[in-house]
Amino acid sequence: MEKLLIEGGKPLQGDVRISGAKNAVLPILASTLLAEGPMQIANVPHLQDVTTTMELLGRMGVSLTIDEYMNIETDTSTIQEFFAHYDVVKTMRASILVLGPLLARFGHAEVSLPGGCAIGSRPVNMHLRGLESMGANIEVKAGYIHASAKRLKGAHLVMDMVTVTGTENLMMAATLADGTSIIENAAREPEVTDLADCLIAMGANIEGAGTDTITIHGVKELKGCNYSVLADRIETGTFLVAAAITGGHIKLKDTQPKLLESVLQKLDKAGATISSGDNWIEIDMTGRRPKSINLRTAPYPAFPTDMQAQFTALNCIAEGSCAITESVFENRFMHVQEMQRMGANIKVEGNTAIVTGVDHLTAAPVMATDLRASASLILAGLVAEGQTVVDRIYHIDRGYECIEEKLAQLGAKIRRVPH
Ligand code: EPU
Repeated sequence: MEKLLIEGGKPLQGDVRISGAKNAVLPILASTLLAEGPMQIANVPHLQDVTTTMELLGRMGVSLTIDEYMNIETDTSTIQEFFAHYDVVKTMRASILVLGPLLARFGHAEVSLPGGCAIGSRPVNMHLRGLESMGANIEVKAGYIHASAKRLKGAHLVMDMVTVTGTENLMMAATLADGTSIIENAAREPEVTDLADCLIAMGANIEGAGTDTITIHGVKELKGCNYSVLADRIETGTFLVAAAITGGHIKLKDTQPKLLESVLQKLDKAGATISSGDNWIEIDMTGRRPKSINLRTAPYPAFPTDMQAQFTALNCIAEGSCAITESVFENRFMHVQEMQRMGANIKVEGNTAIVTGVDHLTAAPVMATDLRASASLILAGLVAEGQTVVDRIYHIDRGYECIEEKLAQLGAKIRRVPH
């Protein structure tokens, strides 16, 4: 199994390009199931989750081509089955995103129920309830969701809690429903807006994406379009923390500061100097030790749960103590035990981690448990004394494009080894 070896202590310097957003490209690839004609998607990040989604669509019979620049073309005219197998869904929960599109366009779908995962139980009850409200027949048997509907009907959907993929699944389903659907308490994440923009380019009639009420007027059919995926705000945030934790000075290109204001505010409080333009962000932390910062995760526009582990790493070596509260997922502190093995002073009480900064972390062999936890361990390794070995890095390859190459380009001493 591949590992990453990191020699800590090198302040990062230089420029790096941010890739397209994982959590935007996955629903956009699922949305191609709604299109009558071919679709071209650009700014696709080279990630394992993208490969998995292509496999999922390919197994259904969708024709897919990908060029050397990671532009993907899809054509659903060859589709033969409406089935998402457990083998695929168990490796990527976002596979559930094919449910709404398949049902809306083809009238039936069989999708494996995603199981538990390293960060919480993550049920999909709100996806299913929403589709039922739109007239779908849903049965769960032998671990599979069996869904059917002649044509979905517009419905008024009030979500009990904010769910990103739940909002996306229902919004996609509603584009081809008969009549108008309203999703209240909708997720406002930029990736939901990016998906809505793509659907609009395909001919959907959607208003209010980016707010907590989305209105979708169903149309008869959607056509293919060309669409370029939004920048990845979590990759952006991860590189910003990499600079902050190492006392570095870097510039991120092809990203947008407006996507991560809550993260930039926290970095400012930690003592970083940040400047930005429409499509770049620069962070300077040269010669400074970060200050501790309290934070609480919550749906967008609040502080993202997908940046919690990285900020835990930052707080490990910051001056002072802080409380980090995770309010989105029930079990997202798996990185803490690994950081403790590197000398971090962290106590977890319920859904809050109390972090007291230490002067330095010490390298250790550590194991990644999920995508963002892996990123946080790499960050800890960048500042630890000695050589950190991060195991189970297949998690990182799911969601970060060439992370070690990008970090190495910024001067980090990091390399991938086969065993
Ligand atoms: N929830 C329910 N029932 C549902 C749906 C969600 O109880 O039917 C709960 C979840 O268990 C969780 C909360 O609602 O406690 C929010 O979950 P949400 O549905 O928003 O998460 P998701 O859509 O499964 C997406 C991202 C995650 C990100 C979360 C929160 C994608 C493909 N995944 O997941 O990304 O953490 O939103 O922002 O968009 C990652 O990239 O590392 C990642 C985990």
